[in-house]
Amino acid sequence: MPTSQFSVEGRNAIVTGASQGIGKTIAERLAADGANVAICSRAQERVDPVAEGIREKGGTALAVECDVRDAESVQDFVAETVEEFGGVDLLVNNAGGEFVAPFEDISENGWKSIVDLNLHGTRHGIQAAGEYMRENDGGCIINMASVNGQHAAPHESHYGASKAAIIRLTETLATEWAKYGIRVNCVAPGLIQTPGVAETLGIDEEQMPAREEADRRIGHTEDIADVVQFLASDAAAFMNGETVTAKGVPRAGNSFDVDLGLE
Ligand SMILES: NC(=O)c1ccc[n+]([C@@H]2O[C@H](COP(=O)([O-])OP(=O)(O)OC[C@H]3O[C@@H](n4cnc5c(N)ncnc54)[C@H](OP(=O)(O)O)[C@@H]3O)[C@@H](O)[C@H]2O)c1
Repeated sequence: MPTSQFSVEGRNAIVTGASQGIGKTIAERLAADGANVAICSRAQERVDPVAEGIREKGGTALAVECDVRDAESVQDFVAETVEEFGGVDLLVNNAGGEFVAPFEDISENGWKSIVDLNLHGTRHGIQAAGEYMRENDGGCIINMASVNGQHAAPHESHYGASKAAIIRLTETLATEWAKYGIRVNCVAPGLIQTPGVAETLGIDEEQMPAREEADRRIGHTEDIADVVQFLASDAAAFMNGETVTAKGVPRAGNSFDVDLGLE
C-alpha cells in the first residue's frame, strides 16, 4: 500500500478539547499532514496559542471557544468551521475528563458532570458535524473512549460508564450511518502522559515515570495521534464501528495501576 493512503491532506477536521494533551497533539499532527484543523476548548485564550503554533509551522488552524457540554455552542463551532473551510470531513471528539473517587463518594452533580462532558459532549459533536456529513459527502468520526470503558477500574465508575457508552454509541452509529458514507470509530487509550492525567493523579507531569521505566504502560500523546491519523485516513476505509485500543502492553484492567510511588 502506498504511504499516501495514510495521508489526511486536504481534509477539513474538527478536534474538540485541543488546548492541551491528546487533543492538541492530534490537531498538530493532522495539520502537519495538510489537514485544515478547527480546534476548541472552553477558553479562547487557551486554544489560541495552539492554533498560532500550527500556523507558524505553515498549517491552517481555526481556534474557537466552545464548551462541548452545550449543544448550541457545538453547533456554532461546526457552522463556523464550515464557513471557514467550506466543509467538515473529519470530527475527532476528544474533549473529556474525569476525577477519581469511590462510587459512594461521587455526588449527583459529580456523576452528571463527567457523563455530561464525556458522553453528552461526544453526542453534541456527532449531532452537529453528523448533520453536515449526512447532507454532504459523508465523513469520518473518531470518538475518544478509554481502556476504562472496556475494563473495570476502581474509583472510575462514572468515567468508565461514560466511556463504555461512547464505545456502544460508536458501534450503533456505524451501523446507522454507513449508508451516508460516514465511518464512526473509537480510540481507547491506556495511560497517556498529559496535563489532565497529572492533575487527576495530583502530581506534576514531570513526576510521571518515563515510559520505559513503566514497562511501556505510559504512552505519549503522539501514540494516540498515530492511531487517529490512521483511522482518519483512507488506509482505514474498511474500518467502521471499531474500537482501537492503544495501551502499550496487552493487559486488562485499570490504566492507573502504574506504580507512581504515591501513597
Ligand atoms: N490521558 C489519558 O491517560 C487518557 C486515557 C484514556 C482516555 N483519555 C481521553 O482522551 C481525551 C483527552 O485526554 P487528556 O488526558 O489529553 O485530557 P486533558 O489533558 O485534561 O485535556 C482535555 C482537553 O479537553 C478540553 N476540555 C475540557 N472540558 C471541555 C469542554 N467542556 N468543552 C471543550 N473542551 C473541553 C480541555 O481544554 P480547556 O480546559 O481549555 O477547556 C483540554 O484541551 C479525553 O477524552 C480522555 O478521557 C485520556
